[in-house]
Amino acid sequence: MRKNIVAGNWKMNMTYQDGLALVSEITNMVADETLGANVEVVIAPPAPFLHSIGKLLAEGGPIHLGAQNCHQKESGAFTGEVSAKQLQSVGVEYVILGHSERRQYFHEDDELLSQKLKAVLAAGLKPIFCIGETLETREADETFDFLAGQLKDGLFHLSNEEFAQVVIAYEPIWAIGTGRTATSQQAQEVHAFIREQIARAYDAEAALNTTILYGGSANAQNARELFGQPDVDGGLIGGASLKSRDFTEIIKSF
Ligand code: G3H
Repeated sequence: MRKNIVAGNWKMNMTYQDGLALVSEITNMVADETLGANVEVVIAPPAPFLHSIGKLLAEGGPIHLGAQNCHQKESGAFTGEVSAKQLQSVGVEYVILGHSERRQYFHEDDELLSQKLKAVLAAGLKPIFCIGETLETREADETFDFLAGQLKDGLFHLSNEEFAQVVIAYEPIWAIGTGRTATSQQAQEVHAFIREQIARAYDAEAALNTTILYGGSANAQNARELFGQPDVDGGLIGGASLKSRDFTEIIKSF
């Protein structure tokens, strides 16, 4: 059966010192709770902090470590890049791939993302694969066709075994960092559609077992309603993951 997940994507925020303080606050706040019973928590800090924060998380309880990106090759002359194998060696479990910011600012396309997906899976890590439409696409009433295309070209080339490791994050681009959240009905409608596409590409069991997260201005106020939808299995949280109280409230929304 699929897991509920709340993943904090810090993006390019926080100094190392601020990051350590934030993780300590979060681990203290969730220490006494029944965390882990029905939700898995992931924190994805910037790459230079992964090792130390991973150690802190390992000491502090059941919070898992995620990375925000990786290179598609295992090793080699790729100055400035980090491989999935290297991430795995410092305790990373999840890697965010296909985030709209990477697609937009770093021109990551389906071909490159396919290679990154393979690299992440080969390293034994779990991809959190992001899809989502622009406002223009939504207003043109092309959201479902667009998302079906992103799923087909970006993900559905994986084998059944590979696909079983994937977490999907639906992040409508118009909701990211804008304070404009998708309504719970909009999120549910898209999540149900994604599940239907998975059932067609693989089978009903794969569809039922895939964790599908919502991302885009999710916060402590709206998380409960979003997570209450039958096909919303948690969130990929940006801004609100940088504040210990907000992030903890979101975790407790399950
Ligand atoms: O990865 C996280 C998403 O891009 C959502 O960011 O919560 O700041 O809107 P946000």
